[in-house]
Amino acid sequence: MLSGPGSTLITGIAELSTVDPALGTLRDAAVVIEGERIAWVGPASRAPAADTAVDVGGRAVLPGWVDSHTHLVFDGDRAAEFAARMAGQAYEAGGIAVTTGATRAADDARLDGLVAGRVREALAGGTTSLETKTGYGLTVEDEARSARIAAAHVEDVTFLGAHLVPDGLDPDTYVDTVCGPMLDAVAPHVRWADVFCERGAFTVEQSRRVLTACRDAGLGLRVHGNQLGPGGGVALAVEVGAASVDHVNHVTDDDVDALAASDTVATVLPACDLSTRAPLAPARRLLDAGATVAIASNANPGTSWTTSMAFCVATAVLQMGLTVPEAVEAATLGGAKALRRDVGTPDRPAVGRLAVGARADLHVLDAPSAVHLAYRPGMPLTWAVWQRGRRVVAPAGRP
Ligand code: NIG
Repeated sequence: MLSGPGSTLITGIAELSTVDPALGTLRDAAVVIEGERIAWVGPASRAPAADTAVDVGGRAVLPGWVDSHTHLVFDGDRAAEFAARMAGQAYEAGGIAVTTGATRAADDARLDGLVAGRVREALAGGTTSLETKTGYGLTVEDEARSARIAAAHVEDVTFLGAHLVPDGLDPDTYVDTVCGPMLDAVAPHVRWADVFCERGAFTVEQSRRVLTACRDAGLGLRVHGNQLGPGGGVALAVEVGAASVDHVNHVTDDDVDALAASDTVATVLPACDLSTRAPLAPARRLLDAGATVAIASNANPGTSWTTSMAFCVATAVLQMGLTVPEAVEAATLGGAKALRRDVGTPDRPAVGRLAVGARADLHVLDAPSAVHLAYRPGMPLTWAVWQRGRRVVAPAGRP
């Protein structure tokens, strides 16, 4: 019997994708949760007793998704821009200004409610860890407000003041603001800094200035790189030791080699690639070269208006050439690595894997195996979700 108030034994697991290298995938498995952490994982036949037991009825269990790239702090709708794109128009960074206008016009309560709703929606689809970014404020006050609101809902908040140069401002003067008063204003609310290093947004030199200032302020680094064309985003991310470079649609062999030889995670965004009709990021090539790959939703109103990690996993399998286990790993442990959450600390348990000591974030599928994520694309397969040891999504018809 595992001690402690509130231990829960989960049985009836037909397939347990632990995504832990030492444990692999187990059949007929069980998990014990104690408090907010996992206390035991193994074959059901050897499971210890616990205070309560839940039988998931022969279903598949995997870690909750770790969505390491979203932009949830926004108001407004860009369906018309999307429709124009589907009629042949190319995606351009300038659409960010439309969302920035709508976001600035929203009051705090509205923006807070919108973010809360999006986090709930993601959780209902099995996402138990989320990163989200500022980047639709683009003034000192609006970026600080976005960061504060994001931090009320999400653990990993990223400062993306360098998302677009606001209309009428000199780019280098704006970068001075980002590196100075804007960074000071957001710093209490954020762990990370990001920059959109792309034509139409920020040059490599401007991006390096932003990343250096943010690193000096103690923030971890991330980069939007090589989305719209080949450029220096990947090389810069590796140079500055960024935790992740995201998009990576247009990469050279040198970029791939640099990623493979570094600790910088290559984060692919399959829903964004479809929604912008971009060449799919070369996830297969990156994995084969030895890079660490994460899959994220990039939920935002311009290029990827979905929080569905299951959709992204299915796309990565069906169109990017990953196997189901590879895609599941990229959307759980890969995301955790991109957020440096794969290794726990005494006060911050690891996420993205199901192993003793990790945070008890479990995603139960209404299916006997994780293969169904790609085999039944688009189907609502989330059956139940535990987050921090508490069941937060229950099967339909059950409390
Ligand atoms: O990650 N690429 C830059 N930022 C977002 C899109 C933002 C927008 O168009 O509103 C992205 O795709």
